Amino acid sequence: MVNTPYKKLKLNIQEIIAKKRDKLELTKEEIEYFINGYTKGEITDYQAAALIMAIYINGMNDRETTDLTLSMAYSGTQLDLSSLGEVVDKHSTGGVGDKITLILMPVIASLGIPVAKMSGRGLGFTGGTIDKLEAIHGYNTNITVEEFMENVKKIGISLMGQTLNLAPADKKIYALRDTIACTDSIPLIASSIMSKKIAAGANKIVIDVTCGSGAFMKTREEAESLARIMTAIGKLANKETVCIITPMDEPVGYAVGNTLEVIEAVDILKNKYMPKDVKNIIEELGANMLMLAGKVSNLNEGKNLILENIKNGKAYQKFLELVENQNGDISYIENTDKFEKAKYIVPIVAQKDGTIVQLDALTIGKLSCYLGAGREKKEDDINPRVGFVFNKKVGDTVKNGEIIGYIHSDDEAKAQEILQQEVIKIS
Ligand code: URA
Repeated sequence: MVNTPYKKLKLNIQEIIAKKRDKLELTKEEIEYFINGYTKGEITDYQAAALIMAIYINGMNDRETTDLTLSMAYSGTQLDLSSLGEVVDKHSTGGVGDKITLILMPVIASLGIPVAKMSGRGLGFTGGTIDKLEAIHGYNTNITVEEFMENVKKIGISLMGQTLNLAPADKKIYALRDTIACTDSIPLIASSIMSKKIAAGANKIVIDVTCGSGAFMKTREEAESLARIMTAIGKLANKETVCIITPMDEPVGYAVGNTLEVIEAVDILKNKYMPKDVKNIIEELGANMLMLAGKVSNLNEGKNLILENIKNGKAYQKFLELVENQNGDISYIENTDKFEKAKYIVPIVAQKDGTIVQLDALTIGKLSCYLGAGREKKEDDINPRVGFVFNKKVGDTVKNGEIIGYIHSDDEAKAQEILQQEVIKIS
């Protein structure tokens, strides 16, 4: 046995911080001591910040990450969804223009798989499903768990905000990480996501691990490491977990910004068009969800069912039911022209013939935030109307003078300022 200067009969936070600072492995008891103490307010923000920074710099092995996840998962309420049948949850590690939940979950529900999903708000340049749903007039994301369960029993789907005391340790640590430049750490991201998923009650989980400039994971190797540890944690917690790595170098689909993304999701559900990247993501995630639910025996069968229920209108009907059931005004969904527009819709015009070589997700995410679509701090208000709608994706050819996208802004000067930047690179 290694004799360390940190071995004491009674735990204390200074010694736990010092251990991680000195690159040593934390025990399960030490991790639980930190999570319990911090959740109860007995460990201060500055002590927690020091430990989180030490974890950020020196990392955690799989066993420590799993112990951290489970302590966080059990730090508050845990939902029991067993009365709803085989719920398969879905989560994304975040990105720009990511409206996949709005499209895929109604598809899954329309195929008879119960959907009971709690979603989050956007922070920084990444968007959040709850902000998008709240762009729909009247849609109530703030329902009780009883209403949530009732909704799923009644119409097979409910999407709500994280109003419950689910993984409160994550809530505190996530907010802290954001203020101390510790968001992009694999053990911290894995434990944050998996603790919420474990507490949210589904026994089967499909996770979209986004990878690229607009994601936390910038490289394939990082995305693979995150996927591997989350799958392992899921297994240890008895949750069948499948991770799918998807690209996030350009925004998903054509629209970025809350109302603009709802309109795009509705158009896709109405089968008006289907961006190639959206098709790939919903096929991959959806087919895996259907496999986990035991609905299909192979991925191809699953992919066909996903697309079929968009084409036959069943997924759109389920989305209407969802909106109506949560008090949303479906006339906005039936006629998306009713959504209030930003004051200025300014075209972005190609300055030469060529091919689009870059539509950088991170840049566009940050600029959307600058326009007001995202928030810097949790308490900030957002403007649902603003953002971007592009007409092109990377690889598309353009002609000099062609309109390749629009900036939606309530502030003309900001739109003009953005026009001066090379948001879309043509070569
Ligand atoms: N999503 C989360 O819930 N937590 C993270 O740390 C990153 C993405």
